[in-house]
Amino acid sequence: MSTTTTRSIPFFAPDLFDADRDALLEAVHATGTATAQKFILGERTERLEHALRDRLAASDVVACSSGTSALTLILAAMEIGPGDEVVVPAFGCAPLASTVIGCGARPVFADVDPAALTMDPDAAEAAVTANTRALMPAHVFSVMADMPRFRDLATRRGLRLVEDSALAQGGTLGGRPAGLWGDAGVYSFVQVKTFGMPGEGGVVITGDTELATRVRMLRNHGQDGVHRFLHHRVGSTSRFDEVMAGFQLYRLDGLDARLARRAEISTYYSTRFAPLAEAGITAPPVGGDGRCHYVYTLLAERRDELRAHLAAHGVDTHVYYPRTLPAQPAFAPHAPPGAHWPNAESAARRNISLPLYPHLDDGQVEHIADTVCAFADSADRRRTDR
Ligand SMILES: Cc1ncc(COP(=O)(O)O)c(C=O)c1O
Repeated sequence: MSTTTTRSIPFFAPDLFDADRDALLEAVHATGTATAQKFILGERTERLEHALRDRLAASDVVACSSGTSALTLILAAMEIGPGDEVVVPAFGCAPLASTVIGCGARPVFADVDPAALTMDPDAAEAAVTANTRALMPAHVFSVMADMPRFRDLATRRGLRLVEDSALAQGGTLGGRPAGLWGDAGVYSFVQVKTFGMPGEGGVVITGDTELATRVRMLRNHGQDGVHRFLHHRVGSTSRFDEVMAGFQLYRLDGLDARLARRAEISTYYSTRFAPLAEAGITAPPVGGDGRCHYVYTLLAERRDELRAHLAAHGVDTHVYYPRTLPAQPAFAPHAPPGAHWPNAESAARRNISLPLYPHLDDGQVEHIADTVCAFADSADRRRTDR
């Protein structure tokens, strides 16, 4: 990589869509002036669903209003409700627990793998009871969950497999795209995701056509899309915005190039950080199967000091999930009192994420890596001086 200038580097880039401003304005104009006057679930949404379905070779893709609502729709379509349990990771984003609680079921928290930070299949199996209806593993930051083992576990125990692939669009494991490992998977299009957009949105991906039909109904008040005001099921409002669909159709062309640039940056980081384990900094592996490149996360023993060091050198960072899910006030009442999830707790204490977006230039990427390595060097020197 060649070195260019470095300024202060934000974690959340403020200019994610600057290059696409004209396309966004055109999508607003085209939608607003079309005779159909459809602002949700119109022909652009349908074209986007088809384009994503063709890219994935999935049997159906159903666009909805967010990644969270995609999970909710799947759980509702599976008729998971009161008395049921869903096994979810103890470390991850709030929707893993809130969507389960929202449908009246109980989230059962399983510990995560200490390096991958994804749900540990052995811990998940130990959490299965006679009430368990589904497993809901999530891909985390830049590593996919061990989906072959979850598929096997779901099949052996007769459980549904919901794949929270909200952040993993573009990742593959064993040649199979993220989102296609579960009975159903999801993508989120919230702005920072790999196919993010300036608004809320998401999709359900499934090879189960019956499930897809139910999800389609549930996203629009239980209607079947043919007969208006005929409500087959108790649904909700979880529909996709036509302006955003037009914008995403335009953005789809550049997605592979943006994913490739994310992978390049992520590989560079991992190559530079591989030797830092001695200094208490653990990085995701270099390349390999089952990687996705949403967020680049290190585990650092002296996380807060590293964060301050990076900030002092103009690098903004982010701590995703400073608490485990069962330690959140909202979810603690749903967890067994006094229980512990040691790997999740350690991840919450140590995780720190570095900037990773396609338009970071090489000089910025080098500066970030140099700054992390300099911190590790000073830690090494302090240790040997002692
Ligand atoms: C793993 C995971 N699941 C679910 C979601 C929810 O997606 P959304 O923010 O689109 O509701 C997110 C994103 O924030 C996520 O990272």
